[in-house]
Amino acid sequence: MSSIDYSEKIPNNVNLSEDRTLQRALEQWQPNYLQWWGDMGPEGSQNFDVYLRTAISVDPQGWAQFGHVKMPDYRWGIFLNPAEKDRKIHFGDHLGEAAWQDVPGEHRANLRRIIVTQGDTEPASVEQQRHLGLTCPSQYDLRNLFQVNVEEGRHLWAMVYLLHKYFGRDGREEGEALLERRSGNADNPRILQAFNEKTPDWLSFFMFTYFTDRDGKFQLCALAESSFDPLARTTKFMLTEEAHHMFVGESGVSRVIQRSCAAMNELKTDDPAKLRAAGVIDLPTIQRYLNFHFSVTIDLFGADQSSNAAIFYSSGLKGRFEEGRRADDHVLKGQHYKVLEVQGGQFVERDVPMLNALNEVLRDDYIKDSVGGVERWNKVIEKAGIPFRLKVPHKAFHRNIGALAGVKVSPDGRVVHDHEWNQNVEHWLPTDEDRAFVASLMGRVVEPGKFANWIAPPMMGINRQPVNFDYVRFN
Ligand SMILES: [Fe+2]
Ligand SMILES: [Fe+2]
Repeated sequence: MSSIDYSEKIPNNVNLSEDRTLQRALEQWQPNYLQWWGDMGPEGSQNFDVYLRTAISVDPQGWAQFGHVKMPDYRWGIFLNPAEKDRKIHFGDHLGEAAWQDVPGEHRANLRRIIVTQGDTEPASVEQQRHLGLTCPSQYDLRNLFQVNVEEGRHLWAMVYLLHKYFGRDGREEGEALLERRSGNADNPRILQAFNEKTPDWLSFFMFTYFTDRDGKFQLCALAESSFDPLARTTKFMLTEEAHHMFVGESGVSRVIQRSCAAMNELKTDDPAKLRAAGVIDLPTIQRYLNFHFSVTIDLFGADQSSNAAIFYSSGLKGRFEEGRRADDHVLKGQHYKVLEVQGGQFVERDVPMLNALNEVLRDDYIKDSVGGVERWNKVIEKAGIPFRLKVPHKAFHRNIGALAGVKVSPDGRVVHDHEWNQNVEHWLPTDEDRAFVASLMGRVVEPGKFANWIAPPMMGINRQPVNFDYVRFN
């Protein structure tokens, strides 16, 4: 079960050849996917040989095989974690019943919506990142970008497999629509707003992979609990790929900080103008990028009170983060959770039914998790002896969804008047000048072992290769 058959047109570990109808449907979708990759995948990259990892089995030991591949020839396929014997539903109204191997009719519409919404983010991020290869700071980073991109492509395959296999004609139509929407397109945009924003430069890319791919992790963790067993098994394998994306973000930002701190110490200054003149990114600008990406990403968890969230949980479609490790009754009826609101210029906490607050529960778990990496970034600054600390902004800062939408709150968590907001917003969110400055640093560095001036080299290469390895052959 866990080994992957690469002799087939579509590599898989789901015995695809035993289901001819499904196989044919997916083989019809495959050229459309490749067409989409050609149109919307990494710009100008079709002929590059890239040192990519490919899954050879879903076992922890056999996960990855590394080698140079042209991205259009990457073996995108369908890989599920092995089935757990006699798996039981472990939360919601069906607690204790057998997990579903098929979609129950009454949950069909909601499950389809959940799968489509998740699936839509995958090609969206490839589209958002498609120009970044032109301004890569090194071959090493270029390779990491491409690795993230091909895996997001595979995540789309994962969701399209579920749509084709379990949702019939509707599912096939959704599979086509996933290749038709375009990030940022006014007429046919991607479903979630953060996936219609631009990722214009590499600082944005690293922030995106740190913060927004981490949203992906939390959504996938919640779906990995699902009573719909094929969804749980698919998302479990996707999570092993997601970990690398967050690594790219965390280590990328860390290396930017390391380089900035080194320049601060060399030049004995914290003056942003002098640091910018020296071609590195000043820490306050990094903080503003952090504020932007954090606030846009926490909106992705949805409204703090949501009857849909309650339905998804009670009916067993979507669990909580680490549902199995929690010590409550896993039904949550009659329980409460505190959500934050602003009333008369003051924060107030309101007790609301827990089931309706599950988006907020997931958001709060996400916030706890994302703070960890920021503390590791601060260690880099501390080690350089610089008295500056990065901080995630207050969760009410710059929100656009839920009870906190549009409320004016400073990053340190004070409700402020419009006047104070307007006077300070340029210190809190990236300005056009910040973005133009960061853009001005983005040149293309592709000589093996060379790095752009604004970022430090990594500690180690990929798969124990040296840092100056030929990660991408341009041909
Ligand atoms: Fe993904
Ligand atoms: Fe990802």
